[in-house]
Amino acid sequence: MPEILVTGGAGYIGSHTAAALAAAGYSPVVIDNLSNSRESVIARLEKLTGKKIPFYNADVRDGAALDAVFAKHSFSAAIHFAGLKAVGESVQQPLRYYEHNLTATMSLLAAMQKHGVKSLIFSSSATVYREDDEVPYIESGELGCSNPYGWTKLFSEQIIRDVCAANPGFSAVLLRYFNPIGADKSGLIGEEPQGVPNNLLPYVSQVAAGIRPRLSVFGNDYPTPDGTCIRDYIHVSDLARAHALALDFAANNAGAKAINIGTGRGYSVLEVVAAFEKASGVKIPFEITGRRAGDIPEYFANPALAREKLGFTAELGIEEMCRDAWRFEQNRKLFPEEK
Ligand code: NAD
Ligand code: WQD
Repeated sequence: MPEILVTGGAGYIGSHTAAALAAAGYSPVVIDNLSNSRESVIARLEKLTGKKIPFYNADVRDGAALDAVFAKHSFSAAIHFAGLKAVGESVQQPLRYYEHNLTATMSLLAAMQKHGVKSLIFSSSATVYREDDEVPYIESGELGCSNPYGWTKLFSEQIIRDVCAANPGFSAVLLRYFNPIGADKSGLIGEEPQGVPNNLLPYVSQVAAGIRPRLSVFGNDYPTPDGTCIRDYIHVSDLARAHALALDFAANNAGAKAINIGTGRGYSVLEVVAAFEKASGVKIPFEITGRRAGDIPEYFANPALAREKLGFTAELGIEEMCRDAWRFEQNRKLFPEEK
């Protein structure tokens, strides 16, 4: 089975992608420095997939460590998740974000060149689109970011494009994720934020579990039907599946291609809260607070290119996303030794 390097494979999207790769007949090999994840995810992944998942506790920025892993395996491609992702933190610590995320991308690309690995799937983000782009966002839209985290994604995309241009035969798919939520239906892996969650769904799950008293809804005076912001939430297992499809595309198409991965449909914050209440049977207390700096009223994907190029369409709806997130939240107490 073809071996695929998965950087950040112990994290939220990386672990689901490792599971999807195993299901699609690939052998994922994980490098993760566990800065935002736990090693026991690998054991849970092995239970879920019934396969041994080689794991290296290493930093992707460490070229010597990467060399050692590349020397031990024969990768047909790499999928690059490893990086820092907190938008607010990136505004406070821009140099840390630029150093970390750009060095990680360049270090991986250098190792791939050195070891003759020519296909890369990169975790980009809908945050690379300009805030004033028309919705739905389309890949040919204007690009530009409002925070350092976003710029690390856009600069990484450019670095990868330049490497593709300089190396005929090198291929890259730049997957621009919208808002991944939910968890694998097994309940074994899911989103495990450290500390107070930044994102909506993990916060709602923790309110449902009684860990936090109530949700703050950041503003209800936006120009949307119920006044709260609208996002394109996508089930993480659908998103994970898109990576396996992107590997096929990269194997047959040289050069770099940016592709949106979303559902094409938006939900407001209050619609998500209502869907979660329905899926869990738990009432979510909330209060309307002020707007969060940097939030924009509404965006969602034009998912046509993913359908055309990858044969990808999201299959799971908001009910499954909430149901599976809630299942994982309840299961987390089964892994107490990891807290
Ligand atoms: P995550 O933090 O759960 O996973 C990232 C993993 O990378 C973690 O396990 C962490 O320990 C590891 N890591 C970080 N820096 C590393 C390094 N230098 N070397 C080795 N391992 C390192 O995040 P996630 O939500 O799974 O996101 C994965 C990728 O997708 C990130 O690049 C993120 O920016 C991108 N992305 C995420 C979202 C989202 O909403 N979650 C949306 C768009 C894009
Ligand atoms: C969703 C909606 C909030 C928390 C972020 C990054 C983006 C991408 C995905 C990586 C917004 C509201 C939230 C809360 C709330 N990540 N909200 N109360 O901001 O759309 O996207 O994650 O690339 O770059 O910015 O996601 O889940 O934080 O917020 O009312 O406690 O929920 O205002 O409208 P966001 P989110």
